[in-house]
Amino acid sequence: MSLTKFPKDFLWGGALAANQAEGGYREGGKGLTTVDMIPHGASRMAVKLGQEKRFTLRSDEYYPSHDAIDFYHRYKEDIALMAEMGFTVFRTSIAWSRLYPKGDEREPNPEGIAFYRALFEECRKYQIEPLVTLCHFDVPLHLVVEYGSWRNRQMVEFFTRYARTCFEAFDGLVKCWLTFNEINIMLHSPFSGAGLVFETGENQEQVKYQAAHHELIASALATRIAHEINPRNQVGCMLAGGNFYPYSCKPEDVWAALQKERENLLFIDVQARGAYPSYAASLFRDKGIQIVKAAGDDEILKHSVDFVSFSYYASRCASADMNAGNTSAANVVKSLRNPHIEVSEWGWGIDPLGLRITINTLYDRYQKPLFLVENGLGAVDEPNDQGEIEDDYRIAYLREHIRAMGDAIGDGIPLMGYTSWGCIDLVAASTGEMSKRYGFVYVDRDDAGRGTLARRRKKSFWWYKKVIASNGEDLA
Ligand code: BG6
Repeated sequence: MSLTKFPKDFLWGGALAANQAEGGYREGGKGLTTVDMIPHGASRMAVKLGQEKRFTLRSDEYYPSHDAIDFYHRYKEDIALMAEMGFTVFRTSIAWSRLYPKGDEREPNPEGIAFYRALFEECRKYQIEPLVTLCHFDVPLHLVVEYGSWRNRQMVEFFTRYARTCFEAFDGLVKCWLTFNEINIMLHSPFSGAGLVFETGENQEQVKYQAAHHELIASALATRIAHEINPRNQVGCMLAGGNFYPYSCKPEDVWAALQKERENLLFIDVQARGAYPSYAASLFRDKGIQIVKAAGDDEILKHSVDFVSFSYYASRCASADMNAGNTSAANVVKSLRNPHIEVSEWGWGIDPLGLRITINTLYDRYQKPLFLVENGLGAVDEPNDQGEIEDDYRIAYLREHIRAMGDAIGDGIPLMGYTSWGCIDLVAASTGEMSKRYGFVYVDRDDAGRGTLARRRKKSFWWYKKVIASNGEDLA
């Protein structure tokens, strides 16, 4: 039993993203996006990180996003499963290139709008609140090829046009919005994070932080537009969360951890507080960066978000000597392996107390409502002889993290809700695997794209249903 009661209006649900679930990559007029170019297999990392330019598809490679789990065609069945679990919120993203196939058109694609209207209406049918990310790791490819993606200021205009279209077209269906998924991840995975590909010899840090500045301007403008269109709209930023612990109490390690924290939180500091933090100047100086700002940018940035959302999979460790121990790269963020915690099959740390620590840190810093929009355990699931999936390890992980959320609520922190990641098995963003599963619902598909795509409830499905029905009290 959790000791702390969740508020009555706490939102319970799950999350996925268009690029990892929908498939239908050329249907309904959709254009190609960055993620459509990221293959499964040996070249994946080089493409994802922007080290290898990949602007055409190859016939000898497999691209998991192309069909993904076919949510594009099966969303009614999937939403019904979520409703059966009792979801009150469902997080997904809109594929920008379904609405603007190339990204720079003046008018949106009506088929794309129709698809998302139908999807959000389906959620509403079950009183499920959609929580919608405008950009979750999928920039229209044309914008990358023709404009260099977010390194180019023109992206602000394209993105805000797209955002305005969404706020107008889905007004009355959606009121909770996130602008950019895990905005800080562009520092670690620049192509998948922001469509960035590097030229030999350029200052990559300069490119990344300038691109981030453009995203921050676009995010602030989108927030303003959302509020103008409907004052009931709630807009959040989204952090790939997880505090950096000092690897030891050596002052140098503590300082290194503080630097890593700042690097991680810089963009959220801007989005939540409406201005660059004071430490940005020295961070830019040390990296040899000069941000090119347009007149009025500082005014624009003042349009801060309504709430702060974040993902939490694992805490991280930093040391003055990043070779001081084994490393782990949970969520592509380099970290030293913490000897005090267990790790998942993919080497990601398991640290429920770290979630309470993260929530407290974020609230101390921002004093805005928080929303945990991703959390979960990526694990291999093997159906037993009866075809059932007894994922007790996933239940154990979620139970402890939900307890930690309850503890944080007991600490006095306003937490709006919880959407566990990959509520239906989907394609893993880092590795492109299907075998790294997060869901309450199993999808019959393997890493090579074989399988019937049939859905099957796991043991955790019934467990989560009970958790939701008891508003987080019954975690047994
Ligand atoms: C987050 C992303 O970084 O982590 C998701 O927002 C991603 O898109 C999730 O899927 C888990 O990572 P992975 O690599 O296990 O899918």
